[in-house]
Amino acid sequence: MQKYSRIISTGSYLPQKILTNKDLENMVDTSHEWIIERTGIESRHIASECESSVDMAYNASLIAMKNAGLNSNDIDMIVVATTTPERKFPSTAVLLQNRLKNNSAFAFDLNAACTGFIYALDVADTYIKNKVVNNVLVVGTEKITSLLDWSDRNTCVLFGDGAGAALLSSSEIPGIISNTIGSDGTYKDLLTVNTDREVIEMSGNDVFKIAVNTMGKLASETLAKNNMTVESIDWLIPHQANSRIINAVARKINLPEEKIIMTVKTHGNTSAASIPLALDHANSNNLIKKNDIIMFEAFGAGFTWGSTLLKY
Ligand code: ACO
Repeated sequence: MQKYSRIISTGSYLPQKILTNKDLENMVDTSHEWIIERTGIESRHIASECESSVDMAYNASLIAMKNAGLNSNDIDMIVVATTTPERKFPSTAVLLQNRLKNNSAFAFDLNAACTGFIYALDVADTYIKNKVVNNVLVVGTEKITSLLDWSDRNTCVLFGDGAGAALLSSSEIPGIISNTIGSDGTYKDLLTVNTDREVIEMSGNDVFKIAVNTMGKLASETLAKNNMTVESIDWLIPHQANSRIINAVARKINLPEEKIIMTVKTHGNTSAASIPLALDHANSNNLIKKNDIIMFEAFGAGFTWGSTLLKY
């Protein structure tokens, strides 16, 4: 019998400290009005000095496990998408495995910047479909504010920290219907963290235009590939970088705004954590119903991009 994978539960974690646009006005030459108008962001969560991407991943994972009724040793694979690992090695996934007291899984990290969670879902789905594993913990976790130059108003207003987790299980019915991932290194310098400076450097305007075009095209191609129209979609859960990017993509595919899960206003851009955070937000607020058709879509540094189409 054909095997599929299904998301059976989610969990998320946001650090306690909230940084508002008003707070940023005291740090750089910016204004609440400018930030809201250009990005839709009002506030973001900031991890404390002693809080790492592993700590946040652990908190989100505990909730996902509790919601699924699974114990740590029921998990046989852990994939963590992050660009801000606690250590260079061991990987964030192995450190998380240790915190969860799991001794039955293999664990590894994956870096596809803001598209990381979609890449991780694709990998998890492939391992489940090929009958290698049954239960996979997929996490997106970022202490992305540790990569900010707090004197650069072009970037420091955009990002926030957090983690989101999803448990994927094997299933005889979908579940995940299709995954698409892609990348193009030609654009490596438009959005980057170079090892000499260790801060985010970005050509915002170029990133904006390419993000809208790529995500619009990707959404249309994902639907066409699966013989679906935009009317088939109950929810779009896009990477939360900027409400203007999200709304422009929705306009390109004629998707009504009510069908978009939008958390960027209070999360900012949490990179690989943004989609699982938004998914858990939608779940916790009972927005998603069983059998709803959901599209995840992301775009990030590289550039990388990806989409997941699934039945909940
Ligand atoms: N406050 C006030 N003014 C600012 C700020 C700020 N925080 N940041 C930049 N400005 C100024 C610029 O200096 C510039 O001033 P100038 O005209 O005197 O030179 C002016 O605002 C306009 O700058 P632009 O860069 O043209 O502004 P734009 O409308 O493109 O908005 C933004 C900038 C919000 C960064 C936009 O380009 C964007 O959202 N890009 C996408 C970037 C992104 O989301 N990256 C995240 C990672 S990729 C991803 O996740 C999809």
